[in-house]
Formats: sequence, C-alpha cells, structure tokens
Amino acid sequence: MLKNDHLDQWDRENFFHPSTHLAEFARGDMPNRIVTGGSGVYIEDRDGQRFLDAFAGLYCVNVGYGRSEISEAIAAQAKELAYYHSYVGHGTEASITLAKMILDRAPKNMSKVYFGLSGSDANETNIKMIWYYNNILGRPEKKKIISRWRGYHGSGLMTGSLTGLALFHEKFDLPLAQVIHTEAPYYYHRKDASLSEADFSAYCATELEKTILAQGPETIAAFIGEPVLGTGGLVPPPVGYWAAIQAVLHKYDILLIADEVVTGFGRLGSMFGSGHYGIEPDFITIAKGLTSAYAPLSGSIVSDKVWKVLEDGTDEFGPIGHGWTYSAHPVCTAAGVANLKLIDELDLVANAGAVGAYLKAAMQEALGAHPYVGDIRGEGMLCAVELTTDKQTRAPFDPAVKAGPSVVAGMLARNVIARAMPQGDIIGLAPPMCLTRAEADLVVAATKEALDDFNPV
Ligand SMILES: Cc1ncc(COP(=O)(O)O)c(C=O)c1O
Repeated sequence: MLKNDHLDQWDRENFFHPSTHLAEFARGDMPNRIVTGGSGVYIEDRDGQRFLDAFAGLYCVNVGYGRSEISEAIAAQAKELAYYHSYVGHGTEASITLAKMILDRAPKNMSKVYFGLSGSDANETNIKMIWYYNNILGRPEKKKIISRWRGYHGSGLMTGSLTGLALFHEKFDLPLAQVIHTEAPYYYHRKDASLSEADFSAYCATELEKTILAQGPETIAAFIGEPVLGTGGLVPPPVGYWAAIQAVLHKYDILLIADEVVTGFGRLGSMFGSGHYGIEPDFITIAKGLTSAYAPLSGSIVSDKVWKVLEDGTDEFGPIGHGWTYSAHPVCTAAGVANLKLIDELDLVANAGAVGAYLKAAMQEALGAHPYVGDIRGEGMLCAVELTTDKQTRAPFDPAVKAGPSVVAGMLARNVIARAMPQGDIIGLAPPMCLTRAEADLVVAATKEALDDFNPV
C-alpha cells in the first residue's frame, strides 16, 4: 500500500528527478519509490517492500548494500578530517593510498589518477587533457573525438555528446561539433546477417577508418569506448573487435579512452575490462565500482605516454588549469580504500565471473527457446535479454507496445529489479558482484514468469 503523505507531496513538488518523465511524475501518473534500507543484494522501501536489486542501483553497488566496513571508514574519516582540497600538492592519507591502490590494480603503462565525482566529469577531464596534450605537442587541429553509436559516456555537454543515444541529444542541441559517431559493435543488430563475428569486427574497423579518412586523420585526437557497451544495450564486443579497432587507431596516432565506469574493478570477472579484452588505453575512466557508490568518486587514469607530455606542458605554461573543489574528497577516497579492500577480501572479482557465467547460462536454459527472446548475452556480472517479434528476422516490437518496460514491470511485481535499457527492448541485469547462485535463480525465475505473462496484443 503506497503512502500518500507529506513526503510524497514534497517529492512531487520540489524534487527534479533525473531521467524521469517530469510531467507524468508531477501529475502523480507514475509512482515514486522512497528507498529506506539495503542489505546484500536487497533494498527495502518505506512501504515495507523488499526487492532483489538485480541492477545494483545503477550498476554501481558492486559489493552489495549495508557493508559496515565502508560506512565505518566513511564515518571515521569524516570525524578525523571531513575535507581538505587537493590543489597545489595537497592531499590526505586516504587519497594518496587510493591512488596507489588503483595504479596497483590498473593495466601496465598507467601513470597517475586524477579524482573527480562522477563518470561524466572524469570523461570531461579526459577530453580536456587530450586537447591540452595535442596543444603541447604543437598540433592544435587534432581535437575531434570519435565515439560509438549506443556508447554511454555521461550526460554533460561534452560527455552527453560522446554518448551515442538519441534521448541524450534531442532538444539539447547536442552533439557538439567536435564529436563524431561511428558504428556500434552490436553483432545482433548487424545489417548483413551472413557476417561472422570476426567479419563484423573487421567491418566496424573499416567503418572507423573511413570516418577518420573522411574527416582527415590530422583532426582526430581520440576514440572513446566502453569495453562492453553498457547503457546502449549491455553488448559484449564481437570476436576480434578491440584488436581491429586498436590497429586503426595506432595507424593514425589516435589516443584511446577505455571508459571503464561500469567494467572497472571486477564486473566482467577481471579487475579491468582493458585486461579482459587486450585493450591498451591511454586513459581509463573509472567511477561506480571504485566506491561501490557508497560515496561519489570517479577517476581518470592517465598513461605514462600522456603523463610525460602533461608534465612538459606545465614546465612550459605553468600549473595545469583544471580542478574541482571536491577532487579527491577524503570521505570519498576513504570509502574507495575500504571498498577495494573488501573486493579483495571477499574475492568478488572471481565471484562476478563465476556467478555471472551461471546467471547467463541459467537464463539461456530457461528462456532461450521463448518466442519473444532474440538474444541472451553477457559477460561477467552483466546480462541482457533482448526481445524480438521474430527470432529469424530479429524484428523489433512496435515501440508503442513498450515490450521491455512491460517485462521489467512484471519482474518488479515479483520483487526483482531489472532495468529496461533506454534504446530497444532489452532487459538489463547487472547485480551486485556478491550475488549467489540461489539469488541468480530467483532473478531467472522472475524474468521467465514476467515474460510468460507478457502479452503484446
Ligand atoms: C560507461 C559510463 N561512462 C560514464 C558514465 C557517467 O557516469 P555518471 O552518471 O557518474 O556521470 C556512465 C554512467 O552510467 C557509464 O555507464
């Protein structure tokens, strides 16, 4: 029974919710949910309902809810020193320790970590550093950034431009002119059904090269991509994709940003997606899993190659003109230290790999033959079920049917939270990395029951 009291009223009158149909919410046409607690993979709301959160918030509560190791570290830091800035060489024990812990876990040839507050601002930092880098190297025309359709990199002005989803562009006058989009590595949606995965990877690399040549390689500074497409549909790359893409980037001296906001710190069953797929990035974007969202914190990991040029730049032009008040906030970095320790102690990276594989296999077993299921895919603790009206032609549902949201609503009615991904009828699952096999079974059962109940006519 949903309460209709002052909190409900204040919520609708005062709170601008992100990614929300504002008019429906204000009118009361859609419910709100006021979340009051969480433990393990479960959250509770103030109406006393308990849900298995199979999307870990926004795929960020990687260690699960209610971890006192992290909340106690936050409290201890806040009591000892709630804040000091990190400008002009200042720092705290927590921020210095966390930078070291990140570099210890990062792929080789990475040099330094810049701390921010969100995945979006970390990508803004990356782009500014890339522009600075090319200015220092005396190539001011090399500034354009190539991103992929269906990539997700944030929702700021630059990062919303990098994001390759229409919802984030339309009516916002985006993308900005410096951003170009190329083919998404989405094998299920390939136009030519006869292509093998490796052929499709080669096709994506050829499309990228054509774009670079059309724009002029001397104008292209960087390529940005998530190791596994996230918000664009939870799509692991086709075989050979990253090798083929990196060969093109090397040929034209184009930097690579691996956006590991979702994949960093274990979600794929490897510490980083870069190691998982043999990616050798010049920048790595990190956020969500860095603190498991117990406090807002992101980072840009900068490679040795780029770092050397940034240092040279400051010798020539003085201190770098970039910084946020809350960069390396001690309360957040203390959360990060406790979180990374916990991931190691509980062996959660291995669990994400093992239970993630179990979840995908169980989903394929339960739903593979379902007439509306076109594709079941995943990597580590990421899994997607994509719906279709026709398994052969892969034809989508009429958007008016709202197939994905209907099935997700059916799962919610069974107390399991999944996410209807924003473009296409894709049921997204990204549970906390501590999910057990028994909990995975509950997720599969709820998906199957909701899908069996789904009646598109
Ligand atoms: C890959 C990726 N990059 C960047 C972002 C943006 O992060 P934030 O929402 O913290 O700004 C996200 C958020 O989901 C993401 O998935």
